[in-house]
Amino acid sequence: MSTPGGAAIRAAAARAVAAVAVHGRRLEDAVAAATQGGVPRPAVQSLSFGTVRWHFELAACLSILLDRPGSKQDPEVRALMLVGLFQLQHGATPEHAAVSETVEAMRALGRPRAAGLVNAVLRRFQRERQAVVAAAHASRAARHAHPEWMLDAFARDWPADWESIAAAGNAEPPMWLRVNARRLAREDYRARLAASGLAAEPCPFAPQALRLAEPVAVDTLPGFADGEVSVQDAAAQLAPFFLAAGPGMRVLDACAAPGGKACHVAELEPDLAELVAVDIDAARATRIESNLARLRLSAHVVVGDAGQPATWWDGRPFERILLDVPCSGTGVIRRHPDIKLLRRADDVARFAVQQAALLRTCWGLLAPGGRLVYASCSVLAAENAGVVGGFMAEEPAAVEVTESARLLLPGALPWRPAGPGCALRSGAADADGFYYACLEKKT
Ligand SMILES: C[S@@+](CC[C@H](N)C(=O)[O-])C[C@H]1O[C@@H](n2cnc3c(N)ncnc32)[C@H](O)[C@@H]1O
Repeated sequence: MSTPGGAAIRAAAARAVAAVAVHGRRLEDAVAAATQGGVPRPAVQSLSFGTVRWHFELAACLSILLDRPGSKQDPEVRALMLVGLFQLQHGATPEHAAVSETVEAMRALGRPRAAGLVNAVLRRFQRERQAVVAAAHASRAARHAHPEWMLDAFARDWPADWESIAAAGNAEPPMWLRVNARRLAREDYRARLAASGLAAEPCPFAPQALRLAEPVAVDTLPGFADGEVSVQDAAAQLAPFFLAAGPGMRVLDACAAPGGKACHVAELEPDLAELVAVDIDAARATRIESNLARLRLSAHVVVGDAGQPATWWDGRPFERILLDVPCSGTGVIRRHPDIKLLRRADDVARFAVQQAALLRTCWGLLAPGGRLVYASCSVLAAENAGVVGGFMAEEPAAVEVTESARLLLPGALPWRPAGPGCALRSGAADADGFYYACLEKKT
């Protein structure tokens, strides 16, 4: 039996995939735009995220299946064929429904004449799947469904683990929760989840983190609207422990939106003298405000450039600074699979320049004896140890204390010393890839 609205869902997914692959849009924005006409968003999201996640494999299969792969194709027709191949190769829809709904979607896309081509491609894939996939997998990029340059970078930085990093990037992400420590204990919230029929496991190294057995819509989480819980990956939940902000301290979160880490810092230390949360992006900064309001926390939210403090800083140094830098996002690809299509090899060096400049500037705002935590959700050394090591080489007052801070963390952390800093491989303990380095300013 076919799904109601199945053709419209597939047409919307194809529009979203084409917007990413051809026009360089972010997938979340593309899904929002493609579902404006009332097409059910979760279904479009699932198909388009899956297609983008496996894009490098599916595109290689499509080239084999098309008689003239190099010929110019309508981007949405091509994207719809990829959506069809995704369903056959990785989806759960019965194959006959996947094919017929995808062919029907050509009409919903206003390209009825391409229906025959889509039908032929998908049916050939059904018949010759094993041989087509084997031929596609001759390419490493197709086999691991990542761009070649990224696999090279993973292999250079993680020689023993690059394949697991790629596999983690292709996995469906788990849903991690952060229990609001000001409101209730993790075990008590876990019991509330169980009472609502939701199973969750505690994280061994992030004390407020629970991993749901199955992701759910946030608004179905007990106490979410009331601020008892937030959604945040376990690796991201380590920031306040590295920061170790205490009573009476002035704390800066220099790249704060949407406020996940700033709110966690505030949850754990109610007696801060001040928490200043800066972000350059005004729209994203409003999400800091709404998260603070939901969690009944307060902070001074500033829309500003952390690299230009003269426009927003009152000149009083901070005892603690969290610098969660803009980065390639290579540690969170499972959550944002469009990173594989949108990032280019030379973006990494550009990010590193920007990160080094932010680190130098923020260091100037740190009080003597204070601590700065540099964090990123990249697994690439150029954005992590490369930036921090380069900074330390030119700043004699910077002393690395990552290791002593890490030893105070509860539970065994699946980390790797990154010289300087510590790196978490994506997928280890089912957490995102992350990097932390703690630097203190010698008095
Ligand atoms: C990795 S995200 C931060 C996530 C955040 N710390 C959290 O836990 O929710 C990086 C943020 O840096 C912001 N950003 C980029 N360049 C900036 C700059 N020069 N000054 C301040 N914020 C910046 C981006 O808008 C983005 O929100």
